[in-house]
Amino acid sequence: MERIILDCDPGHDDAIAILLAAGSDAIELLGITTVAGNNTIDNVTTNAQAVCQVAGIEVPIARGASEPLVTPQIVSHDIHGGTGMDGPVLPEITTQLDPRHAVDFIIDTVMAEPAQSVTLVPVGPFTNIALAMRKEPRIVERVKRVVAMGGSYTRGNVTPSAEYNIYVDPEAAEAVFRGAWPVTMVGLDLTHQALATQELQDRVRLLDSDVARFVLDIWGFIGKTYEDVFEFPAPPVHDACCVAYLIDPSVMRVEPAHIAVELHGQWTKGMTVVNFRERAGMHHSTGVAAQLQDHRGQVATELNWPRFADLVVDAIAQLSTR
Ligand code: BDR
Ligand code: CA
Repeated sequence: MERIILDCDPGHDDAIAILLAAGSDAIELLGITTVAGNNTIDNVTTNAQAVCQVAGIEVPIARGASEPLVTPQIVSHDIHGGTGMDGPVLPEITTQLDPRHAVDFIIDTVMAEPAQSVTLVPVGPFTNIALAMRKEPRIVERVKRVVAMGGSYTRGNVTPSAEYNIYVDPEAAEAVFRGAWPVTMVGLDLTHQALATQELQDRVRLLDSDVARFVLDIWGFIGKTYEDVFEFPAPPVHDACCVAYLIDPSVMRVEPAHIAVELHGQWTKGMTVVNFRERAGMHHSTGVAAQLQDHRGQVATELNWPRFADLVVDAIAQLSTR
């Protein structure tokens, strides 16, 4: 059983991550924290509440950082629409937020639960996690691990080298990857394999429930923007990949690596520089290379798509019975 805090900015794929976590017996969702990213903190928080209401998910939701640490916020209207989760008709919000700031929710939860029992799953900009590390550094040794959506070792989706979650708050990402905790980076190299294909959508349609129709509306909208903007045949379900990995580690291959974040490059700001332990080709005894030798991190490389699809369908089926 993985006990997680999902830190997110819903976000179409964030919504599927919430549903996958709540619909799986292998996950205990301790809470959802929100962060400014795909849209304003107000909108992504409302979206998180809406997803939970649609699916009957009753977990604390705590609103978090309204801006990145250093740089101004960059919303993602072109991909996620004006609300951050355009497409489905959202219910009127009837639930209350947790009274705490997300940073305090994360700290309180991690410090109150047994050591090494809580996994953090950031799938938006890493702002809340970085702030929590600064406010209560003891969370770093207390958390079991961090499984994060962000980055890439091949190419980006905002610039040629930078992925959105890292690009919008690179200083926060740098702090999280440098932290002395085990971090798994689930980047675009992996998540672009996690497509909500027609086959997957057809399986969800057969479930014939409100939550299944909600998911199809989500994929309908994001599928269109991914087709228009990136010429993708189907939308990637980025954020859900982290949760899938925690449900069943065999769903993806991961490799040990050092992960650093480029903070200053004129063309490469927000790039994740990944030094795989088991891939040869770099002379690394001195200088910058020597600093990239600590391979505590791991990076996701290959997805077992059929297994991923089964996990998504199973979770939506489970939520459909509520
Ligand atoms: C990431 O950026 C966001 O738009 C998605 O929700 C995902 O977390 C993909 O680059
Ligand atoms: Ca996200």
